[in-house]
Amino acid sequence: MNLSIEKDKKTAIVLSTVLLFTSYKLIRALTNKPKSQSTKEIPVPGSSYWYVGHMFSLGELPGKTVEEWHRQLGPIIKLYLGVQTWIMIADPILAHKVFVTNSAKTSLRPKSHFTDLYSKGGKGVAFGQPSDVNWKSTRAKMQDAFVPKQIEKYLDSIQWEAQELVHQLVEDTVKEEGVIPFDYFKWYAINTVFVLSFAKRFERVHDPEFKTFSYIIERTSKILEAVEDLPGFLPSASFLDYFSGRKSRGKHFFDDVRDPTFRRYIAEALSSDKPNIIKSIKEEGANWSEEEYIAFTADIISAGTDTIGGSLWWNLYLMCHYPACQKTAANEVDEFFRLNGRLPHFSERTQLPYIISVMKECMRFRPTMQFGLPHSTQEEIEVDGYIFPKGCNIVSSMHGMHLGSYFENANTFFPERYMGNSKTMDALRKGKIEERDQFNFGWGRRSCPGTYLAEVEMFLAFVQILATCTIEPPKEGMPDINGIRNAGLNVVPPHCKLRFVKRHDSLV
Ligand code: HEM
Repeated sequence: MNLSIEKDKKTAIVLSTVLLFTSYKLIRALTNKPKSQSTKEIPVPGSSYWYVGHMFSLGELPGKTVEEWHRQLGPIIKLYLGVQTWIMIADPILAHKVFVTNSAKTSLRPKSHFTDLYSKGGKGVAFGQPSDVNWKSTRAKMQDAFVPKQIEKYLDSIQWEAQELVHQLVEDTVKEEGVIPFDYFKWYAINTVFVLSFAKRFERVHDPEFKTFSYIIERTSKILEAVEDLPGFLPSASFLDYFSGRKSRGKHFFDDVRDPTFRRYIAEALSSDKPNIIKSIKEEGANWSEEEYIAFTADIISAGTDTIGGSLWWNLYLMCHYPACQKTAANEVDEFFRLNGRLPHFSERTQLPYIISVMKECMRFRPTMQFGLPHSTQEEIEVDGYIFPKGCNIVSSMHGMHLGSYFENANTFFPERYMGNSKTMDALRKGKIEERDQFNFGWGRRSCPGTYLAEVEMFLAFVQILATCTIEPPKEGMPDINGIRNAGLNVVPPHCKLRFVKRHDSLV
């Protein structure tokens, strides 16, 4: 063996380690150094390691780990994820001050290689930046497309989709002794936004074209998970990405799989004789490129599918666990039917206060998103004595926020806590923090523009299910409502079939 070569190799390893360490320290110092002196330190959980920080301490279910850290350290904690600083907030009042009162400085979205690929370089809404003039008008178009007045035009079609949903759930329960409902809810959510956006729908949940499309949504959500962007956290690990082919696979997926599919649907929407969002945007004179249409529709569909699917899934598992609550909710629907000879419209929802309360309590008790989408700071801010450095990422910890000390007996499922506030979650999202009663739809100028549509969809599906069938556990036993699984940006219950059994006394 050549000793001088060996010595050179050792020297190179030592030098690169020193270089790595120095650049890590330098990046940390540059990105995190506060300009002002904080009066309160943000606690940092103990299990942080050199260079990687907390990256490998978050475990399989980061939402749960962070919830536990909040329990130990309080409603605001700071994590180091490689070279990035992440601040997690579980106190709604503090979150409001950070995201709403300071919205001009806290409404950027962190960028990554994959969010750039997804959004065609920051186009669309979800990954665009408020500093970009185009973003403001695109976000305004998205808001206009989903205001209550617009959604009202599609109520009959959403109600019809809800009937079709229940029809399939009942039919397939008979055939297969129960169904795993997620695919059915995704089908319902996709059809709803497809009808609005492209004037198109998929016939059934087993439709091969729907399966292909559903895969596109699933894959998109997986690619957008923060952990996929390793070099964003650990710049020195870029070479791993290069060798693993992760980046080129992501590019291939968006350019060659997702985009051609969206292009086809956009072309169909533009030539359709039925009203749809794409056509209205064009007719109103928007001079958008094809890429802008792709990014815009991808946002609507990606953001409005798994979130609805996951929320309804939790809702029905909980109804299975709490049959008395299910019965009270079904009685309320029956009572409305007896009085009116039909099921309620969304505008009549205040006549069903228990249903509204159950829906809110399900979203509080089992939020489908572990964290809201991350915001990042464009300059340093101080809130309540805490310093949020320039460039740090801030998220609301959905589990900590809804299952921590803000709510009385937070770990008890108790829909009655919501009786008395029948305002829509959409109206509350835009209102005073003191009135807000759940926080699943995010904050300020980045809050969810699809909130009203989400509520309408979930309400109509829930009412239709309760009026038609009972939700029962499979023969093997109750579904597990305490286990959760990662599903991209959402968390969903462990797989378990539910049985949708046609009610012998159904009025519909
Ligand atoms: C239960 C259903 C839903 C939940 C829980 C949900 C939740 C959220 C959350 C937490 C955010 C991030 C807010 C923030 O950054 O502060 C968001 C953003 C967004 N949501 Fe929803 N959402 C739902 C349904 C929908 C639907 C049906 C649509 C379809 C129109 C939609 C479209 C969007 C878009 C485009 C954004 C990005 C907004 C921006 O970056 O400015 N969402 N949603």
